[in-house]
Amino acid sequence: MLEIPENGRNRDEILRDLKDFKKNDPAYKSLKTWSLVYYLGEEHNDFLTDAYKEYLSTNGLNPTVFKSLKRLETEVIQMTASLLHGDRNVCGVVTSGGTESCLLPVKTYRDMARAKKPWIKRPEMIIPVTAHVAWEKAAEYFGVKAVHAPLDKNYRVDVKAVKKLINRRTIMLLGSAPEYPHGIIDPIEELSELAVANKIPLHVDACVGGYILPFIEKLGYELPKWDYRVPGVTSISADTHKYGFAAKGASTITYRNVDYFKYQLFVHENWPGGVFASPALLGTRPGGAYAAAWAAMQAMGINGYKKYTQDTINAAQALIKGINEIPELHVIGNPQASLFSYNSPNNDVNIFAVGDQMEERGWQLDRLQFPEALHAMVTPLHLDVVDDYLKDLRESVEHVKQNPHLAEVGGAAMYGMIANIPVRGMVRKNVLNMFAGMYGPDAKMIDFNDAQIDDVDGAETGDSSDLGQKIAMWFVKRKNRKK
Ligand SMILES: Cc1ncc(COP(=O)(O)O)c(C=O)c1O
Repeated sequence: MLEIPENGRNRDEILRDLKDFKKNDPAYKSLKTWSLVYYLGEEHNDFLTDAYKEYLSTNGLNPTVFKSLKRLETEVIQMTASLLHGDRNVCGVVTSGGTESCLLPVKTYRDMARAKKPWIKRPEMIIPVTAHVAWEKAAEYFGVKAVHAPLDKNYRVDVKAVKKLINRRTIMLLGSAPEYPHGIIDPIEELSELAVANKIPLHVDACVGGYILPFIEKLGYELPKWDYRVPGVTSISADTHKYGFAAKGASTITYRNVDYFKYQLFVHENWPGGVFASPALLGTRPGGAYAAAWAAMQAMGINGYKKYTQDTINAAQALIKGINEIPELHVIGNPQASLFSYNSPNNDVNIFAVGDQMEERGWQLDRLQFPEALHAMVTPLHLDVVDDYLKDLRESVEHVKQNPHLAEVGGAAMYGMIANIPVRGMVRKNVLNMFAGMYGPDAKMIDFNDAQIDDVDGAETGDSSDLGQKIAMWFVKRKNRKK
């Protein structure tokens, strides 16, 4: 087991190690990566680093101590509130990221319901099936049942279905602007009507859209309304560390007014360490992340954001058009922002095999399930690689058409099988085991070509074996049992 070195090592050598460790990481600087990273180039990164460094050791735990941090936080929240067309009553906090900004409103509305509707013993929230998994996490963490609303034919949440799901236990409604899997904006104005009529809070998850949709609108594109202009919207999450182009570790959660926000606060008055009050999930809150978020917004300005948004939209629209021109492929729904997904609706090609071919050509793409599809989260610099991407995509489709057996091997086989296993509990159990293994004594990385998985009949095998093969074996056994 690794121990801290007895004597500190040479610092240049350590920095060289750090550079070396990342050599097999995604090639985001060459713009081959289509998720996780919002990279604007080295100059912007250096600027964020300087801003972060200025506040590296500071701590926003107690807002009365580092007054500079409280100022930064207040100003980030005010700039965000005005961007989202809130009035001066809108209030909130900077959080550590999108997930925290989704967890917190669930705690808030649960506690609000406890205070105002004490008869609710088993609170429920209605979320679209496309809601980010952070909402499932919130449901688990805070004991609120996630009731899933289906989509309409355009992949937006089906408002009629939401209406039917509302009952006296419903503590909040959710819509996304846009949702992550397909980049589609839910009909927030229609959800708002339901929320107002039933006196239920409505949260908009704009983690990914919060700092791009407003600029798309400012550029003159038509978008449905989704922010504080919509009367039933009571809170919005928006991530500065996505299209706000801040350093990782900063997002915002805002509420229409303090009457909602106060249910987010935590106070404990009997701790021997003193009376403790905390506005968000974290204890220690990293000042560097706030400083970088504030600095990014100041450096970009409205016009900077508009310019980057225009590049992003140009790239996304060129990609969408180019993909729809490939006869075997089709972009799902009507994505109006910077994310989208595409599949092969008539199964002319196996979409995961196309994904494998793209990966062979160096592109890093996310795979989706229900329906099976490939995903792209477009950023401004991607504009430079649109033609290369489309050329490789056309070649990949052609290659898979010529070699249909590619659907049966490699990543295509594995992703396909995982998406199609009817017993989802089995997927959950095995992923849990593999994940636990990553944090266990051997820190075993998940390698899908050499993954450990429980025996299909439930007994632990303990040995390493191919995940795809195991799942295939499970299918065969199941079929045999049925015969
Ligand atoms: C709509 C939406 N909500 C929440 C999140 C979670 O954000 P984070 O990864 O910063 O926790 C994401 C991430 O992509 C998202 O797209």
